[in-house]
Amino acid sequence: MRNPRRADFPLLAANPELHYLDSAATSQKPRVVLDAMRDYYERDNANPHRGAYDLSVRATERYHDARATIARFLGVADPDCLLFTRGTTESLNLVATAWGYANINAGDEIIVTALEHHANFVPWQQLAFARGARFVVCPLTSDERVDLDALRALVSSRTKVVAFSHVSNAVGTVNPVQEMAAIARAVGALVVCDGAQGAPHLRVGFDALDVDFYAFSGHKMCGPMGIGGLIGRRDILEAMPPYQFGGDMIEFVRDDHSTWNVLPHKFEAGTPNVADAVGLAAACTYLDGIGMDDVLAHERALTALATERLSHIEGIRVYGPPPAGRSGVVSFTMSDIHPHDLATILDQNGVCIRAGHHCAQPLMRRLGVSATARASFYVYSDERDVDALVLALDKARVLFAEPATSR
Ligand code: ALA
Repeated sequence: MRNPRRADFPLLAANPELHYLDSAATSQKPRVVLDAMRDYYERDNANPHRGAYDLSVRATERYHDARATIARFLGVADPDCLLFTRGTTESLNLVATAWGYANINAGDEIIVTALEHHANFVPWQQLAFARGARFVVCPLTSDERVDLDALRALVSSRTKVVAFSHVSNAVGTVNPVQEMAAIARAVGALVVCDGAQGAPHLRVGFDALDVDFYAFSGHKMCGPMGIGGLIGRRDILEAMPPYQFGGDMIEFVRDDHSTWNVLPHKFEAGTPNVADAVGLAAACTYLDGIGMDDVLAHERALTALATERLSHIEGIRVYGPPPAGRSGVVSFTMSDIHPHDLATILDQNGVCIRAGHHCAQPLMRRLGVSATARASFYVYSDERDVDALVLALDKARVLFAEPATSR
């Protein structure tokens, strides 16, 4: 039987034979999210914070309420410390630029891990190069976990930032955030967590995580594309200079100087993305209705099942720790078949997976591959998706085993 939750997702409901296994790239959207966005545009759309008329006040309230809902979902007691951005990439660039240029100097060190997505690697690397700081990449264990002993040995009084992902997008490793944060805190470093693959799958509880910044994307957690956020500690956000200048983020503008609005507006220049915020809030309410513990348990069960069944297919190698240490990601290679070829064959069988370096080239290099194939699960996935994946991989194995001339 198909997962009954598929009925909540119009795209999946309309395509019963589709096996969408690329949720780590972007999730499908439930009807409640699409309805919430339509409702906003049909009933309350105006430019918030600007008009003295009732409609604009309603738009402002919808924006404010959306922030409060998302903050509650992510365990942020002070919603003004949740800044809306276009997504994780913009959030991480915001920290690396606004905090980084104000605080990083020659001789300082910035540590990231070898698991990172380019969005949590390159902004820090470029900041380090620009400021004459040292950029250090923490190594991994043989099953693609962060080597915590190595991290302990790397940090020092020169370490100003430790940036790491909550969950690896490429192999699914769930990092021990609090333990890593404690290692960074011991030397007084800023702790930055890339939560792009954490917020959709795990209970975040920002206030308990003890990180300084947590970045996330809406579109991977049932929300619309083009919105995400950055959660930060109030004292740090208040001390940080703005990232972008323009409307809404100012207090006073004079010819000789300007002053800044309070949080969160100081970091939200320009007309806010209200409809997407409303959609993301609806997504959080939807996920809350399932319960994040059940979301993770469901994904882990499918991940364990898929990993076990793939282990019986000749030539398959699955990367990352055992399923209990991963989110809903199964990243693999099959003999010397290029992952892009695998993805093409799977697509011909109605199975959507991602193939490539997953924006994690430093990790791929360490794995000794240029790419992997990646199947990723979410709340609407089911055992039939795993069956279809296994069947299609078996077909690919047979096809590529044949001499090229008979293909
Ligand atoms: N970062 C996204 C992924 O891992 C796009 O697929």
